[in-house]
Amino acid sequence: MLDAGCGTGENALHVASLGLSVLGVDVAETALAIARKKAEKRGIEIEFVAADAFQLERLGRMFQTVLDCGLFHTFDDDERTRYVASLASVTEHDGTLYVLCFSDDGPDTGPHPISKEELRTAFNSGSGWNVAAIVPDRIQTRFHDHGAPAWFATIKRI
Ligand SMILES: C[S@@+](CC[C@H](N)C(=O)[O-])C[C@H]1O[C@@H](n2cnc3c(N)ncnc32)[C@H](O)[C@@H]1O
Repeated sequence: MLDAGCGTGENALHVASLGLSVLGVDVAETALAIARKKAEKRGIEIEFVAADAFQLERLGRMFQTVLDCGLFHTFDDDERTRYVASLASVTEHDGTLYVLCFSDDGPDTGPHPISKEELRTAFNSGSGWNVAAIVPDRIQTRFHDHGAPAWFATIKRI
């Protein structure tokens, strides 16, 4: 599994602890250093490397499963197009991308609320994706006691 924008690695570490092979990537070296320390302390085998989510093809690897928790919603329209293409370049045919992002289904939405339509537009068949499901969820933040409204999207690579 690839965790794009893994931050300090909590999600990637959880999946790796279940026995899957996981690569976490982020642009923030400070976050990666914390993630690597956590892995060492917990005795979890996992890779964390610095990589730009807009240039994932540079990894030279393909993944059956990709996770985006809290990255997609930080990008504007133009960036989304580039990011979606970058994700497509490293996701196997019939692979699955999971996106957890702020939703526009308030109250108390996060700072970059995304509509279901925006998700469907970004991950359209022309860009190599099929949105299989978008369900309401919550995403933890530093400024919400019980998380912010989120969409949990399951998106298939076609
Ligand atoms: C809101 S944090 C989410 C971290 C983690 N996924 C989580 O759920 O806790 C977004 C992360 O995306 C990273 N990021 C932002 N732009 C990026 C890019 N172009 N390429 C890779 N990582 C990026 C940030 O450094 C940050 O760690």
